Amino acid sequence: MDVLTDHEKTSLVDAAIEARQWAYAPYSHYLVGAALLTTSGRIYDGVNVENAAYPSGMCAERVAIFKAVSQGERNFSAIAVVTSNGGYPCGACRQVMAEFGLETIVIIANDKGEIIRETDVSGILPGAFTPEHLNNP
Ligand code: THU
Repeated sequence: MDVLTDHEKTSLVDAAIEARQWAYAPYSHYLVGAALLTTSGRIYDGVNVENAAYPSGMCAERVAIFKAVSQGERNFSAIAVVTSNGGYPCGACRQVMAEFGLETIVIIANDKGEIIRETDVSGILPGAFTPEHLNNP
């Protein structure tokens, strides 16, 4: 697990808090903001986007990751996730994080900016199925 400076952590959590205002969550009213730091030093944010057809919605973490990947970024240092109560990333988001590296730092924080947990992807998805499992010779 790489180490982030306190300043980098604060910046990332602040970016997730800032993004969270744009969450579209008229059904659950559970607002989620995410901010993803690439090894190139850029931050991609994301929010949950719900839908009247409930399963068509998308989580904040995956929005941030997909935004980054669609801009050509695949190497991630850390992701911060902010909710009202420090909720953890869902299983599908953990799996998408794992695709791009088990060592990506995961910072879970609340809307006051308090860090509830700091770990890496392997810490929240032990025994992950990864691209290496598909590398049949
Ligand atoms: N949600 C996220 O954005 N990320 C997660 O990891 C957990 C759940 C969203 C999905 C839905 O819009 C709302 O939170 C309630 O489940």
